[in-house]
Amino acid sequence: MAYVDQSYVPLEDAKVSVLHWGFRRADTVYDVVSVADGAFFKLDAHLDRFERSMKIFHMSLSESRSEIRNIMHELVRRSGLRNATVTTDCVRGLPPDGAVAIPANAPCYLIAYVKPYYTIVPRNVVERGAHMMVSSIPRIPARSVDHRAKNFHRADMTQASFEALRAGADHPILLDEHGNVTEGPGFNVFAVTNGVVVTPDQGMLEGITRQAVTEICRKLGINCEIRPLPVREMRDADEIFITSTAGGVIGVTRLDGRIFTNDRPGDVTRRLSDAYWSMRKQGWDCEPVTYRHWN
Ligand SMILES: Cc1ncc(COP(=O)(O)O)c(C=O)c1O
Repeated sequence: MAYVDQSYVPLEDAKVSVLHWGFRRADTVYDVVSVADGAFFKLDAHLDRFERSMKIFHMSLSESRSEIRNIMHELVRRSGLRNATVTTDCVRGLPPDGAVAIPANAPCYLIAYVKPYYTIVPRNVVERGAHMMVSSIPRIPARSVDHRAKNFHRADMTQASFEALRAGADHPILLDEHGNVTEGPGFNVFAVTNGVVVTPDQGMLEGITRQAVTEICRKLGINCEIRPLPVREMRDADEIFITSTAGGVIGVTRLDGRIFTNDRPGDVTRRLSDAYWSMRKQGWDCEPVTYRHWN
């Protein structure tokens, strides 16, 4: 199901104009929230981030926060899906005829859709651990595009994905111009050394799953540091894992030439992944969807 032009339509009927700048100039911000066992996870955190992304990109919508929330619920309700992702896009349109062609004159509009839950790597890769490469392509500098806004400017990551494919890896990890780890296409990165978990503090999207992992670390008494993560430190770490709404906590077992933790996700990674899913099962920060009785 999708919501477009203020009505609900089947996903395949949701279209945008080829002229709109959301498409032509990648001038779109978005968010993706998961639904597990019929409940949204950290919906307020996702809505906060969606609003922050719009603000950074000088965008606004005619729908209020509570209307957006209702639309998201309605999409899941209509789809009947219990395990899903819901995407909200704020898309820049086109200036009206006669108006100066600058972004400020182009109104933005909301598109939202629901899809069955998916993971950024296939199930078998979650089990064996992802294989990564450190890309030679640096992440777009944060001074050019603020990565705290979840946005469509991903040409660096697309090029890096092809580089990873050529190298036989599942995904790339991108560095900043100083050689610190940033993120990869759709995920944040963590390294574990001597039981201490480290994740970068800047140059990447502030993932909601990343935030969840810092909360789990606190609960489990695991030391978690948010600071620059030099690539050398990641290469020498005991464990690496990635986090994403689309998959939760996923172990990394190979990085370039190196094999980690006997080629299977490490102990700290497993503990965090198990805690993430079991806490969600217990209703952690969840907002249930009210389904119609025939679903
Ligand atoms: C570039 C990027 N980094 C990190 C993430 C992880 O963020 P979250 O945990 O909120 O899904 C995403 C999510 O899709 C992403 O696109």
